[in-house]
Amino acid sequence: MHPAEELRGKKNNKLFHKRIVLGVTGSIAAVESIKLARELIRHGATVYPVMTPAATRIIHPDALEFATSYKPVIQLTGQTEHVSWCGLVQDPVDLLLISPCTANTISKIARGIDDTPVTTCATTAIGSKVPILLVPAMHLSMYDHRIVQKNIDICKDHGVLFIDPFISGNKAKLPQVDEIVETVIRTVGKRDLLNKRILIIGGATAEPIDDIRLLTNRSSGKTAVFLGVNAFERGADVELWYGYATEPVPSYIPYKRFETVADLLKLMKNNSVKHFDSIIVCAAIANYIPKKQRGKIPSGKEKLFIECAQAPTILETLRSRVPHATIIAFKTEEKKINVKRKTQQLLTKHHLNGAVGNTLAGFGAKDNEILILTKKGKSTWKKGKKEELASVILDMIK
Ligand SMILES: Cc1cc2nc3c(=O)[nH]c(=O)nc-3n(C[C@H](O)[C@H](O)[C@H](O)COP(=O)(O)O)c2cc1C
Repeated sequence: MHPAEELRGKKNNKLFHKRIVLGVTGSIAAVESIKLARELIRHGATVYPVMTPAATRIIHPDALEFATSYKPVIQLTGQTEHVSWCGLVQDPVDLLLISPCTANTISKIARGIDDTPVTTCATTAIGSKVPILLVPAMHLSMYDHRIVQKNIDICKDHGVLFIDPFISGNKAKLPQVDEIVETVIRTVGKRDLLNKRILIIGGATAEPIDDIRLLTNRSSGKTAVFLGVNAFERGADVELWYGYATEPVPSYIPYKRFETVADLLKLMKNNSVKHFDSIIVCAAIANYIPKKQRGKIPSGKEKLFIECAQAPTILETLRSRVPHATIIAFKTEEKKINVKRKTQQLLTKHHLNGAVGNTLAGFGAKDNEILILTKKGKSTWKKGKKEELASVILDMIK
């Protein structure tokens, strides 16, 4: 077995049965294409490499052959690879991914010039409507060039998709490999949440006791991040409002931070929630807010009493702002026996479209057991990794 075959599906099967032509062009970021090809295979994809002559001067074709198990096409042959992969054939590939994509190749694609194996695949794919995803990488002076920008717009007008580079100093750099892979999944995946505008509110709140101490909880933010990633993969327009939590937010998920209940209420002002179709509130929000003392409460006291006031209910404000949006919220109970009754109460009280109940066991853990409750009264317990449960929760708003 070729070493690349041993990798297939090692991470998951999100790209299983997906065939991807990986076009590599003459940017120094071509060195990342080995890692990218292997990561796509770890998600189950089959990757056929194609290179421009300039790319072969930056990385050797043998490296891509090793990474993918396929000999890179560096010159079109009598096999007419561009047609059999990207043409009007019975079984074209699922995607032409060009990463990295030079200024030169972008401009040629925009103008229909096809003088390398990569640009010929692109011209063919545009003609036969095979999805194309370009990942530009270049010096900023090239990326900011008005003609290059105009050519990017021409490509977009023809349905070509782009992942924006991240600008660092004077470079328009290739995004992280995981952002490229996730965007591939979003492009060729089931797209059942396409055009849905989803807000995820997750993580813990942290209320100040004094200028340095906080009253918070053990919510890790994992569920919120997995919900964000899953919604992104399924084509949704997703935004995360993220509290005091440790799980890193991937670069491709737009997010706003909050710490306190007051911050959260501020985020909801000025119609900011109005444009969402669906809102999932999995945040562990404070029920009691301490009366904040200025400076630092001195150490050495034998006893310390902290006065707390009841916190305003976020769900009440949220429902009043978006009477027609789908809202799903989480309820945590200490004992499993109480979960169903309490979750049902939450659903009814705040006119939710669905609710998710769980116990304290889910806090900070990788796995969880959740009760899914619908407005119509249907309830199901599901157990699994938070990553898998995120997908089940998002099925509620399909
Ligand atoms: C070492 C090296 C690095 C380069 N890096 C880039 C780059 O990051 N982005 C880019 O647009 N061009 C870059 N170029 C210039 C391209 O290789 C050149 O425009 C070439 O004609 C691109 O051909 P292709 O688009 O067919 O691959 C680089 C050239 C060299 C020699």
